[in-house]
Amino acid sequence: NKLKDWVAKLPKAELHLHIEGSLEPELMMSLAKKHAVDLPYSSIEEVIDAYDFHNLQSFLDLYYLGASVLRDEDDFYQLMSAYLQKCREDNVVHSEIMFDPQTHTERGIGFDIFMPGFVRAMQYAEQEWGQSSLLIMSFLRHMSEESALQTLEDAKDFLPHITAVGLDSSELGNPPQKFARVFAKAKDLGLKRVAHAGEEGPPDYVWEATNILDVHRIDHGVRSIEDASLVEHLVNKQIPLTVCPLSNTKLKVFEHMSQHNILELLEQGLLVTVNADDPSYFGGYLNDNYHALIDHLDICQEQLRQLVQNSFSASFLSDETKQHWL
Ligand code: HPA
Ligand code: ZN
Repeated sequence: NKLKDWVAKLPKAELHLHIEGSLEPELMMSLAKKHAVDLPYSSIEEVIDAYDFHNLQSFLDLYYLGASVLRDEDDFYQLMSAYLQKCREDNVVHSEIMFDPQTHTERGIGFDIFMPGFVRAMQYAEQEWGQSSLLIMSFLRHMSEESALQTLEDAKDFLPHITAVGLDSSELGNPPQKFARVFAKAKDLGLKRVAHAGEEGPPDYVWEATNILDVHRIDHGVRSIEDASLVEHLVNKQIPLTVCPLSNTKLKVFEHMSQHNILELLEQGLLVTVNADDPSYFGGYLNDNYHALIDHLDICQEQLRQLVQNSFSASFLSDETKQHWL
């Protein structure tokens, strides 16, 4: 397929990627063995078979379980290296990578362990392959405001390596406003802001993320389409949506890819981008996500070009660097 080859070779940016969600079953099993972690899987096949989700929570349970094998600095280095190598194969020249510190600090694994591993792998990709990347520190919204504030405090020595804060995990029942003070503090520290909203949650959560958390981007946001005045607001402010097609079908936000609303979002003038979210759990990296759109939607080359251009315009790159890629 010519369109697939064309989009695969285009330089792209990825803006919505959880590094813990790029942990492949092979690395998970080998680290489980290395650290003698008892996982409820006896083979790679059993891991893959377990990835049959019916909603966000059923995925999150296995995502946190998988992350429990990450223990020392080299584990985090290997995790980040493997993702950046995939970027190289997919022509992802720039990535903005989320990590969930609380998933690790809860287990006694601190910033001094995971940050050096992440940064070492990112510096290698930059120096050897000219691939740029930056980090987004994401708070777990099912945890307390106090825990998020503590996390911000714990990150103090590593802020030069952190560009933005984010908000992920169980959306329903954990509205953005729960983290109003955390995000205000992050803004004071000079950090940019993104938040997951409108994946499973209602359009009101997207309103809160923009109005209360003052975010630069919405992660997912596909349910924004249910509120015409919200769509108008997002279009006027050109607040990007980082959409993740394979994630949305795996977690049953849409029953089938043919029902995905990404083309309607684009048509309404929204700054939409394509992303992989948790590629190891959802069955594909960035090019696989573009290819799924080509397979199941009536998408043309111009729309694909727009999505790729949007990935740079919606990024935290400098205007000068954006111009280079646009
Ligand atoms: N949504 C919410 N939390 C997450 C996700 C997601 O898609 N991926 C990893 N944590
Ligand atoms: Zn996500």
